Amino acid sequence: MNKFRFLTAGESHGKCLSAIIEGVPAGLNIDIDFINNELSRRQQGYGRGDRMKIENDTVEITSGVRFGKTLGSPITLVVKNRDFESWQKIMSVAPEDITDEKAFSTFRPGHADYAGSVKYNQKDLRNILERSSARKTAIEVAVGAVAKLLLKELEITGSSKVIQIGSACCTAEFKEEIDIMRGKGDTVGGKFVVQYKNLPIGLGSFVHWDRKIDGRLAQAIMSIPAVKTVEIGTNPLGYQGSQYHDELVIKDGEISHKTNHAGGIEGGMTNGEDLIISGVMKPIPTMRTPLKTVDCCSMKETEAHFERSDVCAVEACSVVAEARVAWILADEILLKYGGDCMDELKRHFKGS
Ligand SMILES: Cc1cc2nc3c(=O)[nH]c(=O)nc-3n(C[C@H](O)[C@H](O)[C@H](O)COP(=O)(O)O)c2cc1C
Repeated sequence: MNKFRFLTAGESHGKCLSAIIEGVPAGLNIDIDFINNELSRRQQGYGRGDRMKIENDTVEITSGVRFGKTLGSPITLVVKNRDFESWQKIMSVAPEDITDEKAFSTFRPGHADYAGSVKYNQKDLRNILERSSARKTAIEVAVGAVAKLLLKELEITGSSKVIQIGSACCTAEFKEEIDIMRGKGDTVGGKFVVQYKNLPIGLGSFVHWDRKIDGRLAQAIMSIPAVKTVEIGTNPLGYQGSQYHDELVIKDGEISHKTNHAGGIEGGMTNGEDLIISGVMKPIPTMRTPLKTVDCCSMKETEAHFERSDVCAVEACSVVAEARVAWILADEILLKYGGDCMDELKRHFKGS
């Protein structure tokens, strides 16, 4: 059973996004500025759409924290959607407010629209868009920020960066690539890498498939909207065994690895080296130059619905990935070391 557990709720244009986190030990310092800074990082990056100009995400904590420290009880986080003011009627919960304003019935290729409309029996695709939208990654980043605060107290730190946009592999060319795509009414994806330092040896396990930490991390990254590839360490394709595997050596009197192609994981466990995990985000599926599609009401071929959209969100995606890795690491730390309060967790952790 997971120790760091949470559920999120909220629609893209609903009143707010929220999360309840369970399992955080008592006594963790909650730095709201840090959480807000993580939310702001998710909103940045060249190529974002107009929505990011409206939203200025900040977190409100409504339970589980008192005088800046966790109580050990469930923590509730809330991120308001500022855009809700203009959508109150459209997103109303009251049956008497029913309206077809902002309803749409043309499937957007590359989105959840078609399969979602069949699965949930919906003709107004707004009912699918609202929750399938990547807007919910805002609250996920807030949850990740709490996990990061826990990791920070154990001196484990994470970072991420974009390493490719479209065909551009050099940072100086990223903006140009995005501008070209914007000019064409098109979109672009790319690759990011997440790194965590100072991890203990032995998070995860080889004893069952679902305890392998590489598998858990891969799911956490792959389930980010639009992520289609996850790699741990160096992509092994084309390497010979003698070139790829990381030899063990003694460095400063300690056992270590000569290289880190494995990305810090061997046999489903952390091996003491830096965790390195990368992901590839597909090009954003909503485009100003719309793709061909079908209208589910008229059953005729037409063009896809366009709603203001990012041209490129790889930088934001890398921040989301950083947060998701933090959830898994916090969970694995709590599973391995345990503790009802931070002092107890730190004692167990230091004694390992
Ligand atoms: C941070 C972030 C921002 C995104 N912004 C948009 C966007 O503005 N427009 C869009 O069409 N898709 C956007 N996406 C991608 C879609 O949410 C995603 O492709 C869609 O929900 C279908 O999911 P799938 O690609 O995983 O199949 C974004 C994804 C992320 C992670």
